[in-house]
Order: sequence, then structure tokens, then C-alpha cells
Amino acid sequence: MSKPPSYPSKVFLNGEILNAADAKISVFDRGFIFGDGIYEVMARIGGRFFYREAHLDRLRTCLEKIDISFDLDTLEPEIPRLLKLSGLETADCLLYIQVTRGIAPRQHSYPKDIQPTVMMYAWAKTLPDINETPASVVLQKDFRWSRCDIKMTSLLGNVMANEFAMAHDCYETVFERDGILTEASHSNVFFVKNKVVYTHPADYFILDGITRQVVLELCEKLGIDVRLEGLPVKDIPKVDEAFLTGTSTQILAIRNIDNHVISGGQVGPVTRKLQEAFRELKNSGT
Ligand code: PDD
Repeated sequence: MSKPPSYPSKVFLNGEILNAADAKISVFDRGFIFGDGIYEVMARIGGRFFYREAHLDRLRTCLEKIDISFDLDTLEPEIPRLLKLSGLETADCLLYIQVTRGIAPRQHSYPKDIQPTVMMYAWAKTLPDINETPASVVLQKDFRWSRCDIKMTSLLGNVMANEFAMAHDCYETVFERDGILTEASHSNVFFVKNKVVYTHPADYFILDGITRQVVLELCEKLGIDVRLEGLPVKDIPKVDEAFLTGTSTQILAIRNIDNHVISGGQVGPVTRKLQEAFRELKNSGT
């Protein structure tokens, strides 16, 4: 298991970069009361954010989806400033950005004229070049809502599902909705069956992961057939390989789903090919 994260030294909050201990928000912030906000996580690898524009575009789209008006262009110049003050000018790191609707007396509908609360911080993180060790996952019914396409801060369902995985000594919980495998608590899921790669379509039931999109681009480049179809749970025994994708998960082979061992518990050939192409992309300056 990886080391638990520590607090960052600096936090960007509403235009200021503060010592983490001084970064305070109102208890009436709708992010705190309702989980009314969205977030983004991106990784800086070798001096640049990997698929930065795709991450910022998703943040922009999610702001539109939940009707928060905030000009992301004003945030972009603050990122290098934050990294510098955090002592991460040259380090590999992860950046967390969160925008909540802002402060208002509690009522479900929101006032239209409030200022969003904008927060971000970064912490040093070196991601493995390639994930060598496959991970165990468990299955659970997808008890979350039906707008999983929104990268929202209200992650209680995902938190509960991930805790379920931890309780079973697993890395992830893969969700099943009406007999179809959708995604996992903090990553997307792919399957390989008869040399064809399957992953759930980017509809309301999954977050359209940036890493998922990169893997789909790599499949195209490598001439690997793809079907944007959720795999039925009953087909798990027919699967040759399975893997998870995510910003910090990267591409991680699945060793077993519940008691069913996949690919002999090894990283399968298609997964390996994609991992190698992914590593090349990371080192190429994209
Ligand atoms: N998790 N699905 C869910 C539910 C996620 O929370 C994530 C990301 C993904 C993968 O998305 P991407 O490839 O863009 O990271 C899929 C982030 C990293 C998190 O919550 O920390």
C-alpha cells in the first residue's frame, strides 16, 4: 500500500497563496454544506502537466454542467506561482483544484450572484514509470447517482466504495450497474477479450477519465480494436485481461476480480503494450 498523503505547505485560496494553516473558508460555503462543487487532479511529470489542456477543459465543462460561473483563465497564471512558493518548481507533483459555488445561507437552490470559492494545492508525487504489480479489486453495485460524468466534490459514494475495497485488502472497487461494469471508485476500468479492448461509453454512468481518453488514443495508434461497451458481469470469466486507468493510477493491471483470477495474475500482453506506449508518451513531452 502507498504512503498516506501529507498536508501541503501552501494553499491557493481565492486569489491568495497562503500557508496551509491560514487557508480558511466559511462554514456556510456550499461546498462544505452540500458538496456543491467540482474538482480536478492533474500530474506534473518531467516538468509539465500531462494532458493539461484536457484536464482544464474537463474542469471548464464541469463548471458549466453545474452552472458555476468562473473564468479559469484567471487561475492558470497562479499555477506556476503556487508551485514555486510550494518548493515544487522542478518536482514531479500532483495538483488539486477545487471550485465550490461559494457562501450562502443554507437552502437547496442557489443565489446567482455569489462568488465561487476557488482553492488549489500541490504536493510532491513521483508516479511509477510503469506499474509492475497487478492489483486486486472487488465488485459492488453502483449505488451512486446517475451523473457520474460530473467530477463533483460530493464523493461519499466513491469514498464508501473505496473503503469497501480497503476492508477487503483490495486496491479498488469496480461498480456494476444493472449487470454492466461501469467504472471504479477513483479510476476507469478496461477489459480485453479476444484481443478487443472494452470500456464503458462516456455517458452519465462514468467519469470520462483523461487517462481513459489517452488509452483509447493509444489503442487507435497501436491498431488495437476497441468497443465502447460496458462488459456484462457474467462475462468476467471470459476476460483475458483487465486494467484500471487514472491520473495517479496510470495503467494498472487487475490481478483478480473478487475470487476470479485474470490473466494468471500477471500483466497481460495488451495491458503491457499499452503501459509501454503510455510510458513513452509521458517521456515524450506531450
Ligand atoms: N480520480 N473515475 C472516477 C470516479 C475518478 O474519480 C477518476 C479520477 C477517474 C479517472 O479519471 P482521470 O484519468 O482523469 O484521472 C475515473 C481522481 C484522480 C481522484 O479523485 O483523485
